[in-house]
Amino acid sequence: MIRLDARLRCAFEMLQGAKAVADIGCDHGKLTTAMLLDGGCQRVIAGDISPECLKKTRDIIERNGLQDRAEVRLGSGLTILTPGECDAAAILGMGGELMIELLEASPEVASSLNRLVLQPMSGIEELRQWLYESSYHVIEDRLVAIGHRWYQLLSVHKGDIPYPWPEGFPQDCWLVGYRSFADRDRLLRPYCEELLKKRRLQLRQAVGTAGEDRLFREAGQLEQIIKEIHQWN
Ligand SMILES: C[S@@+](CC[C@H](N)C(=O)[O-])C[C@H]1O[C@@H](n2cnc3c(N)ncnc32)[C@H](O)[C@@H]1O
Repeated sequence: MIRLDARLRCAFEMLQGAKAVADIGCDHGKLTTAMLLDGGCQRVIAGDISPECLKKTRDIIERNGLQDRAEVRLGSGLTILTPGECDAAAILGMGGELMIELLEASPEVASSLNRLVLQPMSGIEELRQWLYESSYHVIEDRLVAIGHRWYQLLSVHKGDIPYPWPEGFPQDCWLVGYRSFADRDRLLRPYCEELLKKRRLQLRQAVGTAGEDRLFREAGQLEQIIKEIHQWN
C-alpha cells in the first residue's frame, strides 16, 4: 500500500475504473505504483522528461515488483504514447500553461483518452478556459486543501460540447470550477472566501495600476459565487 497525500489521493480516485493509465511527469512514481497496487489498473506507462525523475519511478516500480505491468518512457508529455495505448492519463504538478502546450502537441492521443486528470500548479484560469473553448467535457473539478495550501484537480475528456454553464455562476469566470459549483463542492465556499480576502487586499495595493480592472472583476465574481452558495440548502 502506497501512502498518498490528499492531492495524489484525489487524482487516484478520479482515475478509478481505468485499465491502462499514463502517469505523465511521474517523478517519484507514487501515483504509478498506487494505481497498480491498489487502483485496479492493469498497466501503467510512466513518462517524464527528466532521466533522473524517471529513475525514481523505475526504482519504486522495482521495489514493489511491478516491472511486468509498468513501463517507463523518456519524453515530453503525451508524445510518449500512441492513441489507444491508455484509456486515461494524469498530468499533475506542472504549470497549466505547459499542460495546454502538451495537449496541443498531441491532439490525437489527448482525444483518444476517456479521462484526463489535470492538476496545475499555476495558470488554472488559462487551462480551464482553454479546456472549455476546446470542447473538453469536465467530469469532475475538485478542490483539495493540504494545510494552508489549495489544489484544484480536473478530470476531463475531449467531447463535442463542454459541460453546460451552470445557472448563477458568473460568465467568464475561470478562477474556480463551474463544475464544482454545479456539483456543490463543500470546499468551494471556504476557498472562494479566502480568495476574495486576497483579492481585496491586492486591490488596495493595485489602485491606478494595469491590474486593477482584473482584480475588481474577479472580486465581483467571487462575491457572486459566495452569495449563490449561501442560498444552497
Ligand atoms: C513537480 S513534479 C510533479 C510530480 C508528480 N506528477 C506529482 O504531481 O507529484 C513535475 C514533474 O514533471 C516533469 N516534467 C516537466 N516537464 C515535462 C514534460 N514536458 N513532459 C513530461 N514530464 C515533464 C518533471 O521532470 C517532474 O518530474
